[in-house]
Parts: sequence; structure tokens; C-alpha cells
Amino acid sequence: MKLVHTISEARNIIKEWKKEGLTVGLVPTMGYLHDGHKSLIDRAVKENDRVVVSIFVNPIQFGQNEDLSVYPRDINRDTELCEKAGANLIFNPEPSEMYASNFSTYVDAGTPEHELCGKSRPIHFRGVCTVVSKLLHVATPDKAYFGQKDAQQIAVVRRMVRDLNIDSEIISCPIVRESDGLAKSSRNVYLSADERKAATILHKALTEGENMVKAGEKDCSKIIAKVSNIINTEPLAKIDYVQVVSYPNIEVIDKIEGSILTAVAVYIGKTRLIDNFIIE
Ligand code: PAJ
Repeated sequence: MKLVHTISEARNIIKEWKKEGLTVGLVPTMGYLHDGHKSLIDRAVKENDRVVVSIFVNPIQFGQNEDLSVYPRDINRDTELCEKAGANLIFNPEPSEMYASNFSTYVDAGTPEHELCGKSRPIHFRGVCTVVSKLLHVATPDKAYFGQKDAQQIAVVRRMVRDLNIDSEIISCPIVRESDGLAKSSRNVYLSADERKAATILHKALTEGENMVKAGEKDCSKIIAKVSNIINTEPLAKIDYVQVVSYPNIEVIDKIEGSILTAVAVYIGKTRLIDNFIIE
């Protein structure tokens, strides 16, 4: 496995693979890899001849008061995980390699950006779309792998790829959880022991909501109320949003019809965690 820091090195390696007729999978990440990321790499290794993992904490998707400067990093551990999982290349650029000092061209995905996380993180998806489109241009993968943990991100990226005729298939992978149900996240390291216990409330609440939908409840406000009430029983939890939207269109709905996404963002202390369920 190779670790490279520049776009030209990554391109040269990938061009050679393509010349040999090999298929390429891309797993975009911000590093500090865990079993959630590993599940994406494992799937990419199964489905492609060569796998590129990008590790880049993308500054333009963080708001001013967000955790960019303290976002956890450990390239040595990440390299080991990628190597063991069978990846062939890590692309780990510096911000200056990705963004020239007078960088000024952004990708804005429009409508599906504006609900859920887009409301409390207004520039977030523009930053995600911009960096993902750049990574897709560098790696030109046949397939790129994303986790359902960030369900809105998948919807936004899929629409961008369709709208801009990018020739890569976007693959969605299931949420990987801790044994007590907490969705794995690089941000879980911010949690104190008490907060870590409190954080299980997200999955507990969503499971109740999911059971209601499966039992036939059609009224979104009742599902939102149930999930919110359960989260509010946890004194360390402060809700950012609890929402039910159509999926993958991400439009607020009153009645359940077709595929839906129920998503939550909750502060546990200072740490903002997200989780969701999708019903097709
Ligand atoms: P990051 O948070 O590092 O996540 C990288 C990928 O791993 C995303 O597709 C995310 O959905 C997936 N992932 C994270 N936790 C997961 C879990 N518990 N189960 C399954 N998949 C999980 O998402 C980003 O980085 C960035 O926005 C990025 C797409 C790299 C653009 O900068």
C-alpha cells in the first residue's frame, strides 16, 4: 500500500491502474478511522481491483464555531488499518494541496442541502460537495463508498453526481454501531464517561420511532414527538433537530408515504451526534 500527499502522485498511480483495465473504488474519509470506515473499505476491497482511501479533514465543511482545530487525527493508526483492510493507496493531502490560496469555485447542491444538518450547519454541504467532487475528479473511481450514518450526505452526493454527470456509482453502506447501539463516529472520543452513557439515548429513541412506523403510524408529528420525548428524558442531551423527511429527496413531510428518513442531531454536552433510520 502507498501513502501519497499530492494530487499528481495519486493521479499517476491511478492512471497506471486504469491503463491495466483495473477497477477502482474510492472511500472518502476525514480519518481517525473506526469500524464504520472499515466496513466501507472492506466492501470496496470486495467490489474493486484497487481501493483508494482519502484521508482529509476538509476545512471548508466546518463552520466557524465547529471542531476543525480539535478534530481527532492519527495517520499512523489509520495507515495500519487501511493496510490490514487491503486498501492499495491512501491519498492524504494538506489543505494547501486541495485549496489554492485564491480558491473560489464551490459546488452547491441546492434543495436537499437545506433541511436537517443544513439548517444548523449552513455551509456544511457546500463544503462536502466541493471536496467530494474534487476527490472524484482525482480518483475517477468506478464506485465511491459512503455510510448511511450520514444519510443526508449520501442523498446530496448522489444528486450532485447525477446533476454534474460524474461517472462514478455512489454506494451506500449500513450504519456500524457499538454493542450498546451508539453509531460509531470519530467524534465519540470527545465524550466523557457520563456523556458516553447518555449518548445511547439517540439509538434508543430512534428504535422506538422505527417500531412506531413499522406498526403502521403515518403521522410524522407523532413520531417526532415520541423520539423527542425519549431524548429529552436524558439530562445531558439537547436536541438540535428531530425530523422526518422523504428519502432521498429530503423534503419535510406530514404523512409517511414511500421511503422516509427519520434523522436526529443531538448535543451530548458539547458534542453534536447524529443518527437516523431509513424505511424504504
Ligand atoms: P467521515 O466522517 O470521516 O466519514 C467518512 C465515511 O464513513 C462517510 O461516508 C460516513 O458516512 C462513513 N461512516 C462514518 N461513521 C460510520 C458508521 N458508524 N457506519 C457506517 N459508515 C460510517 O463523512 C465524511 O467523513 C466527510 O464528510 C467526507 C465525505 C469525507 C467529505 O469530507
